[in-house]
Formats: sequence, C-alpha cells, structure tokens
Amino acid sequence: MNFLRFTDLCQKGLVKNKRVFIRADLNVPQDDNGSITDDTRIKASLPCIQMALDAGAVVMVTSHLGRPKEGLWSEADSLLPVATRMSELLHRPVPLLKDWINGVSLQSGQLALLENCRFNSGEKANDPSLSKKMAALCDIFVHDAFGTAHRAECSTYGIAQYVNTACAGPLLSAEIEAITKALSAPKRPLAAIVAGSKVSTKLTILKSLSTKVDQLIVGGGIANTFMLASGLPIGKSLCEPDLVEDAKRVIEEMRARGAEVPIPSDVVVSTSFAPDAIATTKSSKDVKSDELILDIGPQSTAHLAAQLLKAGTIVWNGPVGVFEFEAFSHGTQGVAQAIAQSTAFSLAGGGDTLAAIAKYGLTDQIDYISTGGGAFLEVLEGKTLPAFEILAKRATGL
Ligand code: 3PG
Repeated sequence: MNFLRFTDLCQKGLVKNKRVFIRADLNVPQDDNGSITDDTRIKASLPCIQMALDAGAVVMVTSHLGRPKEGLWSEADSLLPVATRMSELLHRPVPLLKDWINGVSLQSGQLALLENCRFNSGEKANDPSLSKKMAALCDIFVHDAFGTAHRAECSTYGIAQYVNTACAGPLLSAEIEAITKALSAPKRPLAAIVAGSKVSTKLTILKSLSTKVDQLIVGGGIANTFMLASGLPIGKSLCEPDLVEDAKRVIEEMRARGAEVPIPSDVVVSTSFAPDAIATTKSSKDVKSDELILDIGPQSTAHLAAQLLKAGTIVWNGPVGVFEFEAFSHGTQGVAQAIAQSTAFSLAGGGDTLAAIAKYGLTDQIDYISTGGGAFLEVLEGKTLPAFEILAKRATGL
C-alpha cells in the first residue's frame, strides 16, 4: 500500500516549525474512579509524539475517549487522566486544551493534548465543516490511531481530505506493514486461529480467511459449532445450531482447495462452568449430553502445535479454551507457546488474545501485537479500513 510516512517527512527535515496534528488512539480502559487500568495505548503513541518534538514541530495530539454525547463536555470522558499519564511517561508537562477547534496557540517544540475530539459536534458523522476547521489547525496530519482506523470520523478521515499533507505515524505504519506481511503476501503455510464464543460475531472473518489460509483453526464456542457440523456430539456446550450450514460450507470450501479446518480429536469437558469445575479429558466422540466443552484436549493441542511450528505465517485472534480457569487453560497455553516457538511471522490481536499472551509471558516472542480491537477484526474480515483508503488516496495526490 502506498502512503506517506511521518518518519520519512521527519528524516527529510520537512517537519521543522510545522504545525503537526497527531490523531492517536488514547481510548484506554479506566476503573470506576477514572484511573487508567492499562496504559498500553498511551505508551504506543509516544514514539510518534517524540518524533514530532525532536523534529522541531508544533505538536498537537488528540484522541477520542469513550463515546460521549457530542457538544457536551463531561468529566468522565475527559482526556485529563491521559494527559497526566502522558506527562509522567514523557517527563514533561502535557497541557490539556479544552477549547481548541477554533485555534491553538503553541510554539515549535511545544506539545499539547487536545481534549476528547468526540466532544465536538459533527465528529462522528465526519461533518465537512468540522473537518475543515481541524485541517486549518495544522500543516501536517498524522494518523497514528490504528485502533480507530475503521472509523471515518472528522479526526480520522475528514481532516485528511482537507489538510496539506496527510501521512501515517510510526504506529499506524507498523500495523499496516504487519497486516500486509501476514495477509497480503504471507509466507506459506498461512495458519489462522479464530476463536471466540460465537460463530455469528466472526462469520465474516471465517468466510474471508477461509479463502486465504491453509489452516483455519477454530476455538471456543466457534469450534463447538464446527464440531456439530462435523457430526460430533457437543453436549450442552455453547453453540449456534442455525449456523451449522455456514460452518459446513467453510469446511467444504477449504477442503476443496486442499486447505483444512482442524477439528479437535479430544476435548476437556465439565458439567458446570466454574473456576473449580472438575475437568475430564476425553475423545471428541464421547461428549455426553450433560457436558460442556471448555478446552481442546492434549492430543488436539499437540496436533495444532505441530502445524503451527511448520507454519510460515500465523494470525491469532482468540483463545481456544476458557484459559481464565486453570483446568481449561492448557489448550490455549500450548497453542500460545507453539506460536511463540515457531519461526513463522506471527500477528496477534484482540483483548482476550493479548490477555493470554501476557498471562504466559510471551509478549516478546510474538512478532507483532496489534493495538486494534474492532479495527483488527475488520482487517481480518478483508475490509479496506477508511484510514488506509484516505492515506493511500492522499499519497497519490487525489
Ligand atoms: C477501540 O477501543 O476499539 C477503539 O478506540 C475504537 O473505539 P470506538 O469503537 O468507540 O470507535
């Protein structure tokens, strides 16, 4: 994909004394007191901000936080806690500007955080007059918010239409490169793990990946529906019988082109869903009517691990079992460890997946961990994200 990179503009000395508007994704989780519970996204935004400061720019950064009512400021959605945390991480003051849309007064080398962009009326609807106002604040627009790259809003899309220069920041560039490497030009075999509670929430992803990957490994409630589609008993496990035909079609289409959906040969079951539920490992053929499948068994884990070790590329979204409960965590742990050990290029994304990677201490052994939630899922669905589309258009002068 052709797009301008902020890194290149900085290296060419084109950023000095320029007004740079960075759209980051600082939409971080907070507890009931407003304290940030995970600052990963703030940390991920710092290289771009530091790069702009080092290049001698006037630096404005904004983000959304939550989904506030437009036109109304609310403390609960204010970026103030983010400004405080960013200031600690950068070891410099980060003032938060509340009213910024009609003009910002800053000097080169100065940095300010612009209050939640979703407080502006028209932001979500990508209102052209608001987009033009944003564009007028800057010379260079830097999109560095992969987590919001699937939204076409004023601060993620409209501004890029009207500003002089629109480019991708280092985080967005890295995400685009990892996605391209994994899905557009993958080293084969390409294995994808798609897990989660429901086929319905990931049906488009399953259909899209089934045309691209060599192994489509399904897990969680999704695997139960695929097991049912393969004629296996699943007891009272979570599943969607009305999607069995879709699952059959995915299996058949994959088989027709020499690819496969590996169906677990053994599973770990229990009669209740609880952290201390008694776990029993058995053949997938022997699941009883009162049992719930809560993990894949050791034989299936070893089979998947062997395939993952031979893969050229692995895309991972979703744990294969209820890894939060110790007795049902071994399938996810085995899969995670195999991905970490594999020489394949590995790309992982999604909240539960990141939690599993962190739980097993494998963060450094996964090649790329996406910062996107919904954006990552839309990429797996095969969609072109609005951010990618507008940056590519602007790079070709359209
Ligand atoms: C996210 O957390 O997935 C992104 O920040 C996007 O947030 P949104 O779904 O409110 O647009």
